[in-house]
Amino acid sequence: MKARIVNGKITNFYQRTDTDGNVINASDGGVIFADGQYHWYGLRLRPRPFAPKGEGGQVTDTGVVMYASSDLVSWKYEGVILASSQEENNPLRAPMRFERPKIIYNQATKKYVLWCHYVKYPGDHGFGPGTAEAGVAVCDRVNGQYRFLGTCRPIDESGFVRDCTLFQDDDGNAYFVYDRQVSREFKPVLEPFERCLHIVKLSDDYLSCTKEYARIDAADGREAPCLVKNGGWYYMVTSGLTGWAYNQARYCRAKSIMGPWEDMGDPCTGDDEKTTFRTQGTYIFDTRAGESVMMLERHNTENFERCTYVWLPIRYGNNGTLKLVFEEEVTLEY
Ligand code: GAL
Repeated sequence: MKARIVNGKITNFYQRTDTDGNVINASDGGVIFADGQYHWYGLRLRPRPFAPKGEGGQVTDTGVVMYASSDLVSWKYEGVILASSQEENNPLRAPMRFERPKIIYNQATKKYVLWCHYVKYPGDHGFGPGTAEAGVAVCDRVNGQYRFLGTCRPIDESGFVRDCTLFQDDDGNAYFVYDRQVSREFKPVLEPFERCLHIVKLSDDYLSCTKEYARIDAADGREAPCLVKNGGWYYMVTSGLTGWAYNQARYCRAKSIMGPWEDMGDPCTGDDEKTTFRTQGTYIFDTRAGESVMMLERHNTENFERCTYVWLPIRYGNNGTLKLVFEEEVTLEY
């Protein structure tokens, strides 16, 4: 069956609403199919009036929320699945961030596992412990209350965690992918590998990181990683490092998840401004009909509660290539 997804004009913040008529607010998240439905989750961001300058609206005082749909169009709000807290000593004290939360299902343990880039109270990016870590949470049900298990720095303590994602392979292995920033003072001109995407194999239960990892040299100075596998190739679409400002996407590919990864350039066609159609990548999920959907976000820095979502089908070429084309409305086979 076909779903008609409205992205709106490239110059607009097109607001999608849920079945109650409320604007969908699920930043940085993903979509997982479970229990016969698609579940869309993400960080509930705050409106600007509650976020004084310097503190940013890019924080949450609610947590990660979820919506469910059987057709990818009509989304029913399912509630908060990972709640932030008002208690002073709680690790989830708000305002804070569960940046780029991603959920996968572990077939063996029958648990849903969520990883995110954890930024503790008051939710500003930093270098100290807790502000640049990976966070993990777990739940028996896709839309239940996730239990926060704690944080870690996957490869080493001197490697700060920035943007991250999860990737689950068909053999059941799963990986935490993150922009690892070496612990030096931030320099506007990045030296090689000072910030580089790394991929770390998760333990069999997906709740911790193993020692097996690889540095993805082709993704040096890149962030916002989004992975997908198709036709024997692993693909990773990334953005540049310009914070909330739009920049040009690139992608790399590999025959083996641990590399070597090969830079393939910009996947966008018709992106004359070289801004990834004024968005940044969030996640890639496959529909039940086998279409890969790239979820992108248009950051609304005036009011983060009104960030908007652009979903584009990935068009695979014959020779291990892929393409993204902007459309105001897309039709997806689901
Ligand atoms: C972006 C990054 C986001 C967020 C933001 C602001 O570049 O992809 O996840 O960290 O910077 O700090």
